[in-house]
Amino acid sequence: MISLSLSLASLQALFHLDTDRLTYVVEAFSGQMADGLTGRPSSLAMLPSYLTCPDRREHGDYMALDFGGTNIRAMLIRLLGQGRFAVLAHRTAPLADPAGGYDYTAAPAKELFDFVASLIAEIAPPQKTVALGHTFSFPCRQNGLNDAVLLYWTKEFTATGVVGNNVNTLLQQALADRGLSTIIPAAVVNDTVTTLLTAAYSTPDATIGSICGTGHNTCYLEPQFPGGTRPMYVNIESGNFAAVPANPYDDLLDSASDRPGSGRLEKMCGGRYIGELLRLVGLDLFRHHRFITENLPTRWHEPYSVTAKDLAELLQPASPSSPLLTALAAPDQHVLRMVAELITVRSAHLVAATWIAIVRRIDPDLVRPHVIAIDGSLYEKLPGYSAAIDVALSSLLGEKASQITCRLVKDGSGVGSALAACQGEKKGMC
Ligand code: BGC
Repeated sequence: MISLSLSLASLQALFHLDTDRLTYVVEAFSGQMADGLTGRPSSLAMLPSYLTCPDRREHGDYMALDFGGTNIRAMLIRLLGQGRFAVLAHRTAPLADPAGGYDYTAAPAKELFDFVASLIAEIAPPQKTVALGHTFSFPCRQNGLNDAVLLYWTKEFTATGVVGNNVNTLLQQALADRGLSTIIPAAVVNDTVTTLLTAAYSTPDATIGSICGTGHNTCYLEPQFPGGTRPMYVNIESGNFAAVPANPYDDLLDSASDRPGSGRLEKMCGGRYIGELLRLVGLDLFRHHRFITENLPTRWHEPYSVTAKDLAELLQPASPSSPLLTALAAPDQHVLRMVAELITVRSAHLVAATWIAIVRRIDPDLVRPHVIAIDGSLYEKLPGYSAAIDVALSSLLGEKASQITCRLVKDGSGVGSALAACQGEKKGMC
């Protein structure tokens, strides 16, 4: 039996990324961005969004749809210019019923999109033609603003009949089947882009948008997209970055996942996965040491039973309330708290390293201020997460870190979808 302190020291070595390793990540990420943009093999897809910065004078009523995580949300938004807006109506529903009644994340496309259309139907203004912006938070090959083909599912979604198809057409059909032909899907857009659009609606310094939630991804304003004439938001699909300093727990998680080898960065950073990492490390510690707790609850043996929420509970000052954690003796909880900290800090540091690579691409000497617009439960709620990002930015950029402002932009999908729909309307998409 290996001593617990020895194991904790080796876990520290496995999860801690020192400046050299983070610098390596910055450089590798920069190289793969350049490769992805010029069509060379790369784990970064660098997908064009066909959207550019708002001029901040956008006005009008738009439908917004947010499809991409745990919930699906339909909204009617009034844009009022200069960052101002009003939510006129909204409806939210989980994609998978927590009580087990339904699960559209694994349903056939027709059922899934009919469910989406049913939500829109509840708030669509009667008899009025309205453009809709569709935040679809999965990797799509876009050939135009309203022409987006799903490349592959992430976040362990498995709904059938969507991969390889145009999600705009699927939505349009579902709307038509419900007699909602006055709702015109005018733009399909990634959630990173809607987050950035939302920030850029009020500040011209916003150049990067990122999601640190269930999934992880970043977009930015590319000054020279190959073949483009104007600056364009590019969806990096950074969660798929493959040159990551992974450890054996990451490899174990990856090999048991739906798509081994893909989404390597997301599997180290995203909320969908960090609880699973904690579970795998916890199981290992339990097997190789005498935890005071004699028997782990059976659920610890079920993949994905430990969630990011459980991990967050461990990091809060109050005692945890999750049954998975209360079943453990206090000293064992303490050990797991250290592991939770290692996982959290590593996720934040990796994310910060990728942002530095992006800033360096668009402003190599960091002469301008940059706002990074961030949404997602990890950034907003996970104790220590945003602070760890700031630490990494400062340690890698020194004084220049003051040019970067990280800003929480909550629920950008509503306003951002409306702004995307507005650009679609101007391009004559409806
Ligand atoms: C998806 C991205 C998305 C991110 C955040 C990832 O799993 O591939 O498209 O932006 O999650 O929602």
